[in-house]
Amino acid sequence: MDASLTVAPTPIWLQVEPIRSVLRRLPVGVSDWLSPSERERYAGLRVASRANQFLAGHWLVREGLATRHGGEPRDWPLRERRSLPPLPEREDSPAQVSISHSGDWIAAAVADEPIGVDLEQRRPRAGLLAFAHLLRAEDDPPELDEDTLLQRWVIKEAWIKRHGFSALPERLARIALRRCAEAEATVRLWVGASFHLALACDVTGCIGAVAETGPCEAWLAVATDAEARDRAAARSEPAATSLLP
Ligand SMILES: CC(C)(COP(=O)(O)OP(=O)(O)OC[C@H]1O[C@@H](n2cnc3c(N)ncnc32)[C@H](O)[C@@H]1OP(=O)(O)O)[C@@H](O)C(=O)NCCC(=O)NCCS
Repeated sequence: MDASLTVAPTPIWLQVEPIRSVLRRLPVGVSDWLSPSERERYAGLRVASRANQFLAGHWLVREGLATRHGGEPRDWPLRERRSLPPLPEREDSPAQVSISHSGDWIAAAVADEPIGVDLEQRRPRAGLLAFAHLLRAEDDPPELDEDTLLQRWVIKEAWIKRHGFSALPERLARIALRRCAEAEATVRLWVGASFHLALACDVTGCIGAVAETGPCEAWLAVATDAEARDRAAARSEPAATSLLP
């Protein structure tokens, strides 16, 4: 179920699978493998499904780190960061991670550079129609169905997560999207029967297949304002609530 970018020197590990199958691989005893900051966050998750998403994501990322960099999954403690993905605590590693969960599914990615992964389970999303103006890509027709809007959503969310921003309306609006050649892509999109998955990274080249999806589509996502202004604004952005219905 995994896919790896084939271009050196920064291969990317990416995996998507049902949450329940990751949970089956967890070691017995949560406190045995969560770091202190993860344990503190986990203790605050009162809803069982959310707690399971958290455990599955944080274990899957450890499996990716062990696959890419060696050792066992539990050799890779993660430090929680507010409104950012967790960071491997090992000082000898440049590895970065990204996690996304939706419904029954979990996705995780590992690379030696910033990456963003976003996953959304396919289901009716009538509320997305209200956000069509924030999501439309160049050359899209004026009317888009909910499922196409959900694809645009995961592309923009992956880009936002790659850059560590929040999915505020103004941020979504300031990302221009168009299909592109593989060599130009900043975001790859996989359309599956159960989910849409997007991976944002600066590595060019081919990426392997992701289980249960079609071939990846190459997309170019570009901030329409200056990156420096984006970053400065991001530092003062208030925490937002999720827009996705
Ligand atoms: C947070 C956000 C980056 C992803 O939100 P999402 O689509 O609801 O959630 P996803 O499942 O795709 O991703 C969640 C994971 O991304 C990571 N993450 C959190 N904030 C992040 C950020 N700013 N950039 C990159 N990754 C982030 C975390 O690892 C999180 O998983 P975990 O909490 O189990 O560790 C973005 O969409 C956003 O800004 N959302 C609204 C703001 C918010 O914080 N909402 C929380 C209440 S709904």
